[in-house]
Amino acid sequence: MDIVKVGMIGYGYWGPNLTRNFYELPSANLVAVADLNEERLKQAASKYPHVVVKHDYQELFDLGLDAVVVATPPATHYRIAKDCLEHNLHVLVEKPITLKSDDARKLIELADSKKLTLMVGHTFEYNSAVHALKKYMDSGELGEIYYLDTARLNLGLFQRDSNVLWDLAPHDISILLYLLGEKPISVSAQGTPCVFAGIHDVAYLNLTFPGNIPAYIHVSWLDPCKVRRITVVGSKKMAVYNDIENEQKIKIYDKGVDAPPAYTNGGFDEFQCSYHTGDITIPNIRFAEPLRQECQHFLECIVNGSKPLSSGREGLEVVKILETAQHSMLNGQTHEVITW
Ligand SMILES: NC(=O)c1ccc[n+]([C@@H]2O[C@H](COP(=O)([O-])OP(=O)(O)OC[C@H]3O[C@@H](n4cnc5c(N)ncnc54)[C@H](O)[C@@H]3O)[C@@H](O)[C@H]2O)c1
Repeated sequence: MDIVKVGMIGYGYWGPNLTRNFYELPSANLVAVADLNEERLKQAASKYPHVVVKHDYQELFDLGLDAVVVATPPATHYRIAKDCLEHNLHVLVEKPITLKSDDARKLIELADSKKLTLMVGHTFEYNSAVHALKKYMDSGELGEIYYLDTARLNLGLFQRDSNVLWDLAPHDISILLYLLGEKPISVSAQGTPCVFAGIHDVAYLNLTFPGNIPAYIHVSWLDPCKVRRITVVGSKKMAVYNDIENEQKIKIYDKGVDAPPAYTNGGFDEFQCSYHTGDITIPNIRFAEPLRQECQHFLECIVNGSKPLSSGREGLEVVKILETAQHSMLNGQTHEVITW
């Protein structure tokens, strides 16, 4: 199979971006789009006149497809992805892969048993700025990693069937797992439902990774400013990835502080930290649309039978962390050890 026949399920806010990419990629043939909403289907039909449009995604099963892409609300992911795998289709499902880790496990087992590709849309794992940040961390240029801090804030978009933790934190959690190459040991979380009762629109997570590395995640739908920032603080240098920037997405600050060698809790004179402030380096990053890379990767994994970078297993890890964080958030910010 050189050209993968693809069906799109869900053509709401995000689905059109995936649809455009599969339409434009030479190794894909976009055959059909399914959406329950008549208006959304009309828009898909007018943009892609040769593509079959259907209300019921199950009608896609008769079209000889190889793969489907699921961009429906998270609560529907498990049922739709399972149905598609049972019909021998490779599946790319948007984040979070499911709302329960047991369901994610079942999808992985089903895909494995049928030798099908199961991939989750952790888009930032296909982002060249995130790749560059990891290179700086792995090369030792930042020194020992002290902590990481992420902020993903804006006004909206409020969701009906999930809180801000499940909507936005999958991005940051998947980035942290990728950057550190390890799974966290524990998590605690707190949040507030400000606008709608029971739907948290602001949340703070505190994760601890092996080596006692803390990572702090702040996500919000209720902030006056759009912020998309990841800060990595090391013993030698500090790096900031600002996704809002068009060109200067990553800055490496040659900044740091050394404690006095013989600081012994003595008098004020002994508490003389030595700060250093050097150059700011802005690496030139060849930026390709991350979603295009993700879609291309899905097609390659299908054709080569290789494991996706963001496979069902990475999807499961993110869901497990979200589940544990949600439990902490709803139970007074308890410290939760994550059982892997
Ligand atoms: N990777 C990213 O950066 C990114 C960005 C935004 C959203 N997302 C994810 O994409 C998914 C969709 O989010 P959205 O913002 O587009 O939601 P949305 O509500 O705007 O769109 C969902 C669409 O799915 C359709 N739908 C619902 N149930 C269906 C079914 N059974 N069969 C066919 N169509 C059905 C709805 O009619 C709607 O048009 C979510 O999982 C979300 O987390 C990912």
